[in-house]
Amino acid sequence: MADERLIVALDFHKMEDVKNLVNELGDSVIFYKVGMELFYSVGAGVVDWLKTQNKKVFLDLKLHDIPNTVAGGLCSLMNLGADILNVHAAGGFTMMKTAAEKLREESAKAGIVKPKLIAITILTSINENEWYGAEKISEQVVKFARLAQDAGLEGVVASPQEAALIRQNCGKDFLIITPGIRPAGSDINDQSRISTPAAAIKNGASYLVVGRPIRAAENPKLAAENILAEIKC
Ligand code: C5P
Repeated sequence: MADERLIVALDFHKMEDVKNLVNELGDSVIFYKVGMELFYSVGAGVVDWLKTQNKKVFLDLKLHDIPNTVAGGLCSLMNLGADILNVHAAGGFTMMKTAAEKLREESAKAGIVKPKLIAITILTSINENEWYGAEKISEQVVKFARLAQDAGLEGVVASPQEAALIRQNCGKDFLIITPGIRPAGSDINDQSRISTPAAAIKNGASYLVVGRPIRAAENPKLAAENILAEIKC
């Protein structure tokens, strides 16, 4: 069985690139992330295609608007069959709570498995120098995580550097999805609050989102397998 804790980010524009990478990674990877770059280029067909390949899908469209609009948007996305959907915690408690309730109601009505709903805390590309808030990033991340949990969401996206603090504050069942993963010696690119795969898991991450360290590797399958070996307990 593939280790579901590794989610590979499909940040491409073309279906052809998606198919090549997914076929190349084969049975090693079961979970994929579809973000705005891919979704805005190829549309919902990519979720369908991944499902025909028996893959799980995290549809990372980071909704952020007033409560009614986000709830409506999520209900439209719910029908695509993704396993995880997300919103920005900065949209506020009422937005998150309305979204979670509406998704619960509408998926029950439609008789489909409710996608997990998680909240983006503070982007992993932001560092303390460009941070605009009054408190430390880690304090704000924990506030957002508790707010998301109180609103009925199943987890958050955060930096692996904040995973331990979130785990401590939100308990063992709360999902913590961590981008900003960089195996030792790899390029940081535009990320800031990073850690290695093993450190992220050790600090309580439930899932690791990895893009360029796999996608841009000379041998993507080997890069994925090295990460899987690193997190194997
Ligand atoms: O290539 P890299 O491993 O940096 O890709 C990280 C992926 O995770 C990207 O698709 C990015 O959009 C996403 N992401 C992130 N930070 C967040 C939320 C999502 O890097 N806070």
